[in-house]
Amino acid sequence: MRLFKTVLEMSAFSKKARLNGKSIGLVPTMGYLHEGHLSLVKASIDSSDLTVVSIFVNPVQFGKNEDLAKYPRNMKRDLALLKKAGVDVVFAPEVSEMYPNGYITYVSPQGGLEGLLEGEIRPGHFRGVMTVVAKLLNITEPDKAFFGQKDAQQCLIIKKLVRDLNFKAEILILPTVREADGLAKSSRNSYLDAKERVTAPAIYKALQIAQQMINLGERNPAVVIAGMRRLIGCEKNIKIEYAVITDPETLQPVSSIDGRVLALVAARVGKTRLIDNILIDRKVGSHHRRKNAKTHV
Ligand code: PAF
Repeated sequence: MRLFKTVLEMSAFSKKARLNGKSIGLVPTMGYLHEGHLSLVKASIDSSDLTVVSIFVNPVQFGKNEDLAKYPRNMKRDLALLKKAGVDVVFAPEVSEMYPNGYITYVSPQGGLEGLLEGEIRPGHFRGVMTVVAKLLNITEPDKAFFGQKDAQQCLIIKKLVRDLNFKAEILILPTVREADGLAKSSRNSYLDAKERVTAPAIYKALQIAQQMINLGERNPAVVIAGMRRLIGCEKNIKIEYAVITDPETLQPVSSIDGRVLALVAARVGKTRLIDNILIDRKVGSHHRRKNAKTHV
């Protein structure tokens, strides 16, 4: 496994690989890897000649009062995991390599998606995500890039980025990987103390309640949302930021549940902010629970 820290090395590798007719899969990460990341790595390895994993805690996507400074990092462990997984290249640039002095160019979403949900609570977040993903796509020139459904809004925005700016990479979205008790895997789960860890799965349970209510015939999103809120409300140390039922493409709230909808929750468990979502297909029979959907975009 090769480790590149400079854009020059990474670009030269990709250029040569492409000249040799090799396909490249990219898995962009901020490190502190968990099984969710590793499922993306596996999908890339299974479908590409070469797999590049980027590890870069992108300062531009963190707000002023967010967790940039304390975001968990463990490069040594990450490298060992990626080597074991069979990754070909790790691209782990310093901040000054990605945003050198005099850096002025950013990619911003405009026209709806960015002002909703995560975008509303974390202004500028998607500008940071789009900018870094655009840079990573240019530097690594992948045929495919892999992202996790847990960050549903990010997935939609990255699909738009690729379409709107004519990037060549195909974007693949893989299902959320969960702990045995349903909690979505996230690097930020490491912030939870023992008590918080016990209550955090209420977020996923609320999503499951939404699924059950819809499968049993509930069509009124307000009633479903009330059910979700009630469930999470039982936990003293969880504060909901949003619990919504939306159109899976536009993320606009639906007025009636008539087809596929996306249920999303963001909540603070103690001080830790966690997000999760599931796609719910109304067409599925009432007693048949659909597994967490593969992709919705
Ligand atoms: O999902 C993440 O870890 C990050 O937002 C990403 C896509 C690696 C960009 O920094």
